[in-house]
Amino acid sequence: MSHWFDKRVYWVIGATGALGRATVEALARQGATVIASSRSVTTAHFSGWPGVFSWPLDVGDSAAVDHVAAGIIDRFGRLDGLVTSSNVAAFGEFHALADEDWYRVLEAKWLGSVRPVRAVLPHLIAMGQGAIVLITGRGGIDPSPQHFIGSSVNAALDLLVQGLGRRYGPQGVRVNAVAPGPIASPRYQALQQASPQSIEPQTPLAGPGKPEDVASAVLYLLSDAAAFVNASGLYVDGGGKRYV
Ligand SMILES: NC(=O)c1ccc[n+]([C@@H]2O[C@H](COP(=O)([O-])OP(=O)(O)OC[C@H]3O[C@@H](n4cnc5c(N)ncnc54)[C@H](OP(=O)(O)O)[C@@H]3O)[C@@H](O)[C@H]2O)c1
Repeated sequence: MSHWFDKRVYWVIGATGALGRATVEALARQGATVIASSRSVTTAHFSGWPGVFSWPLDVGDSAAVDHVAAGIIDRFGRLDGLVTSSNVAAFGEFHALADEDWYRVLEAKWLGSVRPVRAVLPHLIAMGQGAIVLITGRGGIDPSPQHFIGSSVNAALDLLVQGLGRRYGPQGVRVNAVAPGPIASPRYQALQQASPQSIEPQTPLAGPGKPEDVASAVLYLLSDAAAFVNASGLYVDGGGKRYV
């Protein structure tokens, strides 16, 4: 992938998470400039990564999302793409989860994708090019019993990706999803702890996967290698459930 990311600027939201961080580091390794956002991110998170700039943001604050998007374009002069990977944990049985649990995920992941995409689109359209990747999840087509909230939001985001890709593709903006299956991470551990009676099944490739596996898929979709890939989803899940 050499040179595709030279002089390009990307914004990764959820950058302190397992998958966001792997994506930030993979982009930086390819020579991109990366703006890393989350509520708690500090310069310490990416010390030793000269191309990475930490920019704290709570995606629950719509005005702040717009402000950071404008600030990035103002400071770096361009923006080539966006990756959204923010979420909170809300695992448990459907009947035991409250409105508050649903709202937390809707804010962090659903609106946490909608707001940044909306904020960057005018700039990408003006440039006539750009790539957006939403991290969704395999649960969007295959919900596990302890994860109906996140799974529903993943399904909704997968649909949004189709619509956005078709709507804005003609203006040069590609929009795709990466849908991970089980990935070794604190989030996956928390899901396992919430559902010890139904541990995720083995995938055909064993697993769980690594955050770097997800980052590789994101980089592909951001790169010119994926120039004809739009309104689509790439599953990084080892092939789904293993049936024997
Ligand atoms: N890990 C897996 O196995 C797996 C599987 C399928 C799908 N996924 C999806 O992949 C995405 C990333 O997963 P992950 O494992 O990296 O999760 P994670 O480690 O929990 O990271 C979540 C990130 O979101 C940020 N965040 C939460 N609320 C935010 C807010 N209001 N504003 C800004 N940032 C916010 C967190 O940072 P702060 O706390 O600093 O804000 C953190 O950086 C999630 O959408 C998850 O559903 C993960």
